[in-house]
Amino acid sequence: MMKENKLFGVVGHPIRHSLSPVMHNAVFKKLGLNYSYSAFDIEKNDLDVFLKRCREMNFLGLNVTVPHKVDIIRYLDDLDENARLINAVNTIKFEDNMLLGYNTDGLGCVRALEEGGERIGGKRILILGAGGAARAIVFQCALEGAEIAISNRTMDRAMRLAREIREKLNKRVLVVNFSESSIRDIIPTTDILINATSVGMYPKIHRSPVSSDVLNPKLTVMDIVYNPIETQFLRNAKRIGCKTIDGVGMFVHQGAESLRIWLDIKPPIDLMRKVVVEKLV
Ligand SMILES: NC(=O)c1ccc[n+]([C@@H]2O[C@H](COP(=O)([O-])OP(=O)(O)OC[C@H]3O[C@@H](n4cnc5c(N)ncnc54)[C@H](OP(=O)(O)O)[C@@H]3O)[C@@H](O)[C@H]2O)c1
Repeated sequence: MMKENKLFGVVGHPIRHSLSPVMHNAVFKKLGLNYSYSAFDIEKNDLDVFLKRCREMNFLGLNVTVPHKVDIIRYLDDLDENARLINAVNTIKFEDNMLLGYNTDGLGCVRALEEGGERIGGKRILILGAGGAARAIVFQCALEGAEIAISNRTMDRAMRLAREIREKLNKRVLVVNFSESSIRDIIPTTDILINATSVGMYPKIHRSPVSSDVLNPKLTVMDIVYNPIETQFLRNAKRIGCKTIDGVGMFVHQGAESLRIWLDIKPPIDLMRKVVVEKLV
């Protein structure tokens, strides 16, 4: 007998290219759950009404994506510690008529690094970018005991993020100029280099946030851009001999963490990666 139907979804604007429905519906099918996950294109001013409708329809969970991760907070009843620290929500759980906000982006990145054989504690990590995804990654890596440096095109944004980490977590974060020479200087004392900018994302797939000249083979290089799966940045790093980790891993693991929050299950990571990769190639 099929179990009770439960509703899930992702809310963003625009949303039509989201890979979350295909990934989560594949999990539900595999586990024999009669649940469904849909994409909702909602504008900022309609978020309140949308969430009320979700409550009425007994939704169990939502993912939240660009541009609503911060704006949605005002409609939630409570936040977990990560979401509160990062001040952004990518996962909502509906529980006893309450809306609870979580952020699984940073944990998704850390899990992907661990899957690639990296331990985070004590590692020296240079993060390129200071946007929404970078914020979540910087907070999570700081919580896990990494030594962090940030480099962002808009220096002021990186400075503000570093200040926030110092104030909230009492940890020092180095801010590096977003220039090839400054990044080259810090690479010899870096273990993991993460591109958390949107540089290299489709359709500008031949761009890379830094040139091959600044890389060295001892680095582990991760790109959180996942379209294309192998970015120019990762291709350059691979050619030099670096260990590389693509952005699909983070996407899959942030989704897996959402599933753990909603359903307390062990998500089928391999299947999730397979369906996402099939959609991207
Ligand atoms: N794998 C995953 O699960 C996952 C999850 C979330 C996001 N992502 C990907 O991560 C990327 C960033 O997402 P986001 O939500 O953080 O976006 P965002 O908040 O808009 O931030 C964009 C970041 O990229 C930088 N940037 C943009 N264009 C640049 C350029 N031409 N040169 C140098 N830096 C540039 C921005 O620097 P400024 O501050 O100077 O503008 C900022 O740091 C996107 O490609 C997204 O698809 C992947």
